[in-house]
Amino acid sequence: MTPFHRLENTFEVGWKSPSNLALVKYWGKYGRQYPKNASISFTLDHAHSMTNFIAKPKTGTDLIDLSFKFEGENKPAFENKIKKFFESILDITPFLQEYTFEIESKNSFPHSSGIASSASAMSALSLCIMSLEQEIREDKLSETDFLKKASFLSRLGSGSASRSVYPNLAMWGEHRAFSGSSNDYAIPYYDQLNPIFLNFHDDILIVSKSEKSVSSTAGHALMDDNVYSSQRYQQANDRLEVLIAAMKEGNLDDFGKIVEDEALTLHALMMCSQPSYILIEPNTLNLIKSIRDYRNQTGVPVYFSLDAGPNIHLLYPDEHKEHVKSFIQDDLEKYCLKIIEDQVGQGPSKLNSTI
Ligand code: DP6
Repeated sequence: MTPFHRLENTFEVGWKSPSNLALVKYWGKYGRQYPKNASISFTLDHAHSMTNFIAKPKTGTDLIDLSFKFEGENKPAFENKIKKFFESILDITPFLQEYTFEIESKNSFPHSSGIASSASAMSALSLCIMSLEQEIREDKLSETDFLKKASFLSRLGSGSASRSVYPNLAMWGEHRAFSGSSNDYAIPYYDQLNPIFLNFHDDILIVSKSEKSVSSTAGHALMDDNVYSSQRYQQANDRLEVLIAAMKEGNLDDFGKIVEDEALTLHALMMCSQPSYILIEPNTLNLIKSIRDYRNQTGVPVYFSLDAGPNIHLLYPDEHKEHVKSFIQDDLEKYCLKIIEDQVGQGPSKLNSTI
């Protein structure tokens, strides 16, 4: 067991950590937050969480003693979730019992904008925990090991969060074709990537702000009895290899085919689960149709993806941004409540000042 020393004074740290968009989706899990197939995602830039974390020598008697504020307000439901998370990782980070925590977080994207925040929130929190660990460890972690363990803790908070700790593109899940890949944590994966993907755009077209009608955890559980599940896990792992080859070559056709089919497969799986969920809205389909028509008519390589909700991620290379801007204004805006312009980003960073 790693030796930790006990802090006598207050420790304070803050991290900003982004959301991510899965290109090959994680949908289905087992055991202690292990994925049924490998997945890969773009790390986003503008959509992020900022978390401020203060640890003081413990004063209370609870096993975990913490208070949590979201955007300046107490949020008992989130606070409880974080307490449970801390309790669940005490075998890995036992020092969490020794401090009283004041945690405060905010998101760059509006609350209830339909953007899933678990990836950015859990990764920002895990990075803060890792900064505390680094402070009290006798043997300091290298930067690589620091991020690996931050990804490991993030995964235990929310599977997709494991991928948010790296810049550009991150992969999570053991896969025979990718050395170093693991079910325990994500790995960065952008070394031999065609540069076109390093500043790819990902505009988020918000069509509904309503809360998800199925939680991710419940959604993953539906895969256990889905008749297509084993073929699906195989398909995802096979596709990952094809996608990476396309992203190395800069083959946008193959990239787009896989990414769009992944989004539709995710929703098809939800639709044919028991019970069945339809999370897309009429305007999701209007947008998909417009994107496909525009691409066919103009040849501009613009593609869509979806999370477990109705909002569209519009993906395109930087060199086409002016064309796509007009396309959005002329043909897409009318179906959207709001548009958040985003793109592939550089991963988390430590905050210099309190949020
Ligand atoms: C559709 O990571 O939110 O976004 O591990 O239960 O917290 P939990 O699930 P979560 O699932 C994300 C599913 C997805 C696809 C993906 O990000 O790979």
